[in-house]
Amino acid sequence: MSKSISGFSKLSKSKKIDWIVNTYFSNGQEAKRILEQYWHIDEKIQQLHDEFIENTISNYYLPLGVAPNFLINGKVYTIPMAIEESSVVAAASKAAKFWLDRGGFKTQVISTTKIGQVHFMYHGNPDTLEAFFKDVKPKLFQDAKPITKNMEQRGGGILDITLRDKTKDIKGYYQLHTSFETLDAMGANFINSCLEQFAKTFKQEVLLYKDFTAEEQDIQIVMSILSNYVPDCLVRAEVSCPVEDLNEDDDISPEEFASKFVQAVNIAEVEPYRAVTHNKGIMNGIDAVVLATGNDFRAVEAGVHAYASKGGKYSSLTHAKIENGMFTFWMEIPLALGTVGGLTGLHPLVKIALELLHNPSAKELMQIVAVAGLAQNFAALRSLTTTGIQKGHMKMHLLNILNQFQATDDEKASIINYFKTHTVSHSAVVDALKKLRTNP
Ligand code: MEV
Repeated sequence: MSKSISGFSKLSKSKKIDWIVNTYFSNGQEAKRILEQYWHIDEKIQQLHDEFIENTISNYYLPLGVAPNFLINGKVYTIPMAIEESSVVAAASKAAKFWLDRGGFKTQVISTTKIGQVHFMYHGNPDTLEAFFKDVKPKLFQDAKPITKNMEQRGGGILDITLRDKTKDIKGYYQLHTSFETLDAMGANFINSCLEQFAKTFKQEVLLYKDFTAEEQDIQIVMSILSNYVPDCLVRAEVSCPVEDLNEDDDISPEEFASKFVQAVNIAEVEPYRAVTHNKGIMNGIDAVVLATGNDFRAVEAGVHAYASKGGKYSSLTHAKIENGMFTFWMEIPLALGTVGGLTGLHPLVKIALELLHNPSAKELMQIVAVAGLAQNFAALRSLTTTGIQKGHMKMHLLNILNQFQATDDEKASIINYFKTHTVSHSAVVDALKKLRTNP
């Protein structure tokens, strides 16, 4: 059966759903019921969601949780997290509580510069291009003024434009490599609009420049786009305390814990197979806050993982040391975030998340998000180097398994109680539930 369709985006929402359920589902009515069950009862809110993207047929819910007790530079935050993974919020809360009693998290924004590039091809004399660029540079700034005016009034804008010769990599390849300060905006639209204007001005001015030959005037703009690699939009988060204060678990001495913890970080620094998982754990915390605050987690993910490879080999984002009896654990991470523009003013839950964080500036949000990542990594390494992660994971997963088998509230209470003293595994939960149901 052919499953393609033309003009789909022009169909009404209900026609789209009809086509989907009739084409792909054995029980179309049931599929339709579930899709509609997730519509918002308030039509205005539903319309808002419908209009975020094209072809919306329903809403995809993620839980929004909170992790309280994060002491960051002397101020206590409750951090909103949107995530489906059972143990993440619990782990963040646990790490926050642990460091609340030990001085909390210290953070610092190191830099906030973002990059965008116009990529173009030119096959003439490089000196002529260089001379032309010097001439045209003020006009690039000037023509972008209608776009940059407001941002400049607030103290941001285009920082610099340089001509980069990339002909060693690709014949004829050059860039207008541009740095930006976008303040509280993530800045994607601002940067891309500036770049597209540069490309336009550049093309126009090339034709007027007398020193170019006719062939040289044939510059081809390939594309104009921001970079999600933001190694100069950097934030640092750190925790530290005397080694002896790390004591919480009677099974392991604070010295042994500190030493195993540092070893675990060292392993992630040198071993890419471990580094990827180690950094994934960091992103559990980061993505959850990035998503809750209406930011672009794909951009953050791409930029962070590129940064983790900046030495030529994929490595740990966090570092740890023991020096003079002090345990220090820290991370520097690139985060291009916004607290104005995009979803931040549109999505009601994003507004709530931002208000919960005292309506932070982008710089403050960078610090909060970095802390969520560091805390998550601390929690993961703490479990991994002591009890192992499955204990906590499976405890959190227990409810998911029970829900999968439609356990009633009474069944849940009884099984949760049972597993306080038994090891959780999928089959153990299923067996316990079976037993309970045959022998209540
Ligand atoms: C699971 O989502 C994340 C961890 O695997 C991270 C890690 O291994 O450090 C627990």
